[in-house]
Amino acid sequence: MLPMDQVRAAFPALALTDDGVARLYLDAPAGTQVAGRVVDAMGHAMIAACANNGGLFRTSVAADSIADAAVAAAAAMFNCADDEVIFGLNTTSLFFQMAPLIAANWQAGDNILLTRMDHDANVSPWLQAAQARGVEVRFLEWDRETFALKLETLPDLINARTRAVAVGHASNFLGTVNDVAAVCAAARAVGAVSIVDAVQSAPHLALDVGAVGCDVMAASAYKFFGPHFAIMYISRRLQAMIQPLKVRPSADVMPTRLMPGTPNIEAMAGTTAAIEHLAWLGEAAGTVHAGAPLRQRLVAGLAAAQAHETELMRRFLTGIAAVPGVTLHGIANANRLHERVATFTFEIAGRSADAIAADLAGRNIFVWNGYYYAWEPAGVLGLRDRGAVRVGFTHYNTLDEVDVLIGALADIAA
Ligand SMILES: Cc1ncc(COP(=O)(O)O)c(C=O)c1O
Repeated sequence: MLPMDQVRAAFPALALTDDGVARLYLDAPAGTQVAGRVVDAMGHAMIAACANNGGLFRTSVAADSIADAAVAAAAAMFNCADDEVIFGLNTTSLFFQMAPLIAANWQAGDNILLTRMDHDANVSPWLQAAQARGVEVRFLEWDRETFALKLETLPDLINARTRAVAVGHASNFLGTVNDVAAVCAAARAVGAVSIVDAVQSAPHLALDVGAVGCDVMAASAYKFFGPHFAIMYISRRLQAMIQPLKVRPSADVMPTRLMPGTPNIEAMAGTTAAIEHLAWLGEAAGTVHAGAPLRQRLVAGLAAAQAHETELMRRFLTGIAAVPGVTLHGIANANRLHERVATFTFEIAGRSADAIAADLAGRNIFVWNGYYYAWEPAGVLGLRDRGAVRVGFTHYNTLDEVDVLIGALADIAA
């Protein structure tokens, strides 16, 4: 079990109050609070390692160490080799950066497969690349009853002309965790490149690119308790298929060959610290030793987080079921909690999403209203205009906070 006092003390922002009222952060699917060690690591990098990489003097050597540590930490997070990771501004720009490289050999008559469940960051870059290359775009639909992708339709959608398949690991709208291994296996069977958006799963589940069998996976550090920055796995197979993004003088080695220009050293330091925070959760829960390898500690840490979040989900689902007029757009079955993350999108009859979010904001409860760039799923549900309310729980939230939210929603519904 997670020692919640220690866990909450690890996040300086959780202690902030406004006129004596605590802040209830339920906006994690849009961005989590930042672990204190992340703030310290970034400050340290900007004071003690403030230099460009590759020099012979102390600060440059320190900057190199920070970059190396970040590569190793991101590789532990994806469970891949060090020469298979790059960093970027955010996941959206990394996908936009990779799309033209991956699409370079697509031809008319080819097709790509996207989903109606994904955040638009994993749709528009591939749509635009397909348009530029004159390639057909197909969509994998999801079931309105089960909130799961219709995997049984894959054989009709993927064929020998499929060049790429892009799928989300966990939905930022429905909360569904998809069987991405099944989708990637179908892509691999026809030689298509598979791309997995792990932005919403990374804060909750251990990632494993080998088990998933993808060519690309991306996650954003600011959604897993770190800075505004992103990490991406690119398989060696795919690296061999694409042109490097390099200026002539830069080294033709990873990550430099796919990361043009001066890297954000302080964000790299912060990202390493965020990954260390996830690993520390395992130590805090007493399920792994502090001296164990980073990957092992990460897996233990995320398992501890997941166990705690499962209790939060249970409490939320029980509570919301008693609030009149609620429609939840996602899995509500307590026996299927392993198929979702703690991201819940819902409506309350007779109350607009904007009004609910504003009412909650007045109580210092931070939630999102709208459709959160989940253009396709919001379109399926007809919610692009009126939107819905989204709350997300993460390992720093408590059962008491769930109760406070439910009490407020009951008030609003009445
Ligand atoms: C599932 C998912 N993918 C991609 C993104 C975009 O991430 P970024 O802001 O890092 O580009 C988000 C952001 O909300 C997301 O939830």
